[in-house]
Amino acid sequence: MGIEITGWGKCTPSAVLTNSDLESILDTDDEWITTRTGVKQRRIAEAPLSEIGTIAAKHALAAADKDPNEIDAVMMATCTPEFLIPSTASRVQMNIGNNTAAAFDFNSACSGFVYGLTTAYSMIHSGIFNNVLLVGGEKVSYFLDWTARDTAVLFGDGAGAVLIEKTNTDSKLHSSKMTCDPFLGEALMLKNFGTSMEIKDPKEGYFFGISFEGQEIFKNAVKTMARLAEEALEESGLSVDDIDLCIPHQANRRILEATAKRCNFPMEKMIINLDQYGNTSAGSIPIALTEALDEGKVKPNSKILFLAFGGGLTGAAAVIDWGGRSHALKTSNEQLPDSGKTALELVQDILNMYQ
Ligand code: ACO
Repeated sequence: MGIEITGWGKCTPSAVLTNSDLESILDTDDEWITTRTGVKQRRIAEAPLSEIGTIAAKHALAAADKDPNEIDAVMMATCTPEFLIPSTASRVQMNIGNNTAAAFDFNSACSGFVYGLTTAYSMIHSGIFNNVLLVGGEKVSYFLDWTARDTAVLFGDGAGAVLIEKTNTDSKLHSSKMTCDPFLGEALMLKNFGTSMEIKDPKEGYFFGISFEGQEIFKNAVKTMARLAEEALEESGLSVDDIDLCIPHQANRRILEATAKRCNFPMEKMIINLDQYGNTSAGSIPIALTEALDEGKVKPNSKILFLAFGGGLTGAAAVIDWGGRSHALKTSNEQLPDSGKTALELVQDILNMYQ
């Protein structure tokens, strides 16, 4: 029995927020953002997260030519759920028209997709499911403090999805390494969401702004991703030369360059699209994977290294064989409805909500 990704898709909202847009509302500039992060623009969504995830999921189902009613489980990696109950996964499940699959959300922040990939492969390997629709996505714009230049410039909205299935091949997950250092958890926090809410003045908002220590996260991201990559490669019996592509979480170009240098990984094999979307957290890897497939960078039987780091502080690395097919069986025209608003107007709506 083999296990492989047979479908893939993304949803990147159409409203583009450029660095020059941010210059108009924050004390920042394109040069600082570009040189310190590599980000040139990001997307802002009006639609709820489940709709963003649903579009990505429908593209993944089309690419695999899979009937939604045959899906055994919908898993959603997100740290910006639409509701606490019901899960965002169950809303995606509803939107694709399936009422029998298992559905659950999980939160490993930016590492969510690789945690989910490992969980999905393991559950298929154990015989619990024949397939899993794994969605990673965020509507992080809603949780940002758009007056704080240190975080507002980094993130964007979006989702990606993959269908993972049991197949008659020998494709597999070679290795996976996942970690979390809870003692550094407060380096990246979204406070006042969940049972810790102690809001006395509603003007404070419930979950206003991400608090984070950029340099602490930066250092740990490089150290942890380089270590996990080495451990995952060692466990798989593969070397850097055997890897055709690395698809990392897209947080900061400098983090990726430093990580690649530390583990002697060639930058040419690394997929980077953060200039277009910023950090979409759990959405970043499946979006980058989908674009790599669309651009013909993933070949049949490619060996792919996924690398991630995020809130928790979590980290993950996984090595997989791509299957025998890297073209979509069908395509879907599904896309989000146009909100008719510019990205700046959507940001202004969020600012107004908190005032
Ligand atoms: N525009 C202009 N100046 C800014 C901005 C901005 N948007 N943001 C901060 N600055 C200023 C700071 O105020 C500081 O000024 P000062 O020297 O007068 O005090 C100066 O720029 C340098 O700030 P640093 O924080 O030292 O800048 P650094 O080079 O560390 O880059 C950054 C900051 C981009 C956030 C970096 O630390 C980083 O990418 N960290 C990790 C990314 C991250 O945390 N992502 C969150 C999710 S976790 C993950 O996905 C990996």
